[in-house]
Amino acid sequence: MFTPDDVPDLSGRVAIVTGGNRSIGLETVYMLLRKNCNVWIAGRSQSGFDEAKKILETRQDINKEMLERLHFQKLDLSGMKNAQLSAQEFARNNPSRLDIVIGNAGISMQRSDELSSDGYELTMQTNHFGHFSFIITLLPLLTKTAKEHGDVRVVMTTSDAYAYATNGIDFESLTRPTMQTGMRALTDQFARYGASKLANMLFARELDRGWATPLRKQGAMAYVDCAHPGAILNTGLGSSGSGGQLPGVINLALRVSGNFAGFSALEGAMTQVWVATTPDLKDKDHGKYYVPVTNWRGRYVSSEEKAPDTKWATDDELAAKLWKYSEDALVKAGGQST
Ligand SMILES: NC(=O)c1ccc[n+]([C@@H]2O[C@H](COP(=O)([O-])OP(=O)(O)OC[C@H]3O[C@@H](n4cnc5c(N)ncnc54)[C@H](OP(=O)(O)O)[C@@H]3O)[C@@H](O)[C@H]2O)c1
Repeated sequence: MFTPDDVPDLSGRVAIVTGGNRSIGLETVYMLLRKNCNVWIAGRSQSGFDEAKKILETRQDINKEMLERLHFQKLDLSGMKNAQLSAQEFARNNPSRLDIVIGNAGISMQRSDELSSDGYELTMQTNHFGHFSFIITLLPLLTKTAKEHGDVRVVMTTSDAYAYATNGIDFESLTRPTMQTGMRALTDQFARYGASKLANMLFARELDRGWATPLRKQGAMAYVDCAHPGAILNTGLGSSGSGGQLPGVINLALRVSGNFAGFSALEGAMTQVWVATTPDLKDKDHGKYYVPVTNWRGRYVSSEEKAPDTKWATDDELAAKLWKYSEDALVKAGGQST
């Protein structure tokens, strides 16, 4: 059984949690702070950060010293150039080390007839392209930390919804807005969310292969994996998209049942925190997919590696294609590929 108390001591370490201001991200921040980590919430607004800090202040096991280790990094993942500028700003202001990055922020239920300012489907833009741009720009700092301190980890928050991407990633559709209504729109939104979560997995796989594996060969511990939190029914995920909420009754049912019976956001944060901190994974292969293990009552017990259910999630050709597409997208958006 893994509990927040089992997170190892993280004194001196520095972590960034994207979307750390609420729900699963906030519980991730909470667990890292409790174990002496210096934590940056990378989020869209100072007000969201202030709100998160207020929530943490009310918790009995969070003290003033812990809150002094909590910081804000502005990050909007909806544009690649801006996400890159945020990473550059972070590295400029915090040049000494960065040990953990958890790419947790995510959206779903987006309109399918609108594109981002970079010209891409909104879900893929935020969940994948924004993270791609932010994280690859942090690589020099992560590399330096791996060489100097010897244990650096990137964890991408994915979802078992990656399996909705039954045909892999349809690159052409990323720049093609579609107009759907009713159930069609809903199915389309799930498929787009699934494709973005598949992209998180492929990014983790390719980043581990191309960046972390060579570092490990040189004796510097660095790895990249991805984690599915489990189904947490009452976060903002199903209700904050521009494409509208899930149909009212379904949304209400999910929220009410989530408050009583669902996995909590804290339970949802456990797997990504475990992957980001446990000493148990040091000798394993990486670029892998981790999921929660539950007991007979559906409560979180521990986390384990799982072989993905679709061939796309381990398709190295697709991962390389996505990487190249993302690099080109970053340059088109006015950013620099590394
Ligand atoms: N809930 C589940 O059942 C479930 C299941 C599987 C996987 N997941 C994954 O878990 C992660 C967290 O989901 P959640 O349920 O905690 O969702 P949530 O409550 O909606 O929180 C999403 C977070 O992402 C941030 N975000 C959204 N758009 C952003 C942008 N453009 N730039 C920067 N940050 C942005 C939000 O910031 P604001 O507060 O500013 O909006 C918020 O902090 C997601 O990656 C999701 O795919 C969730």
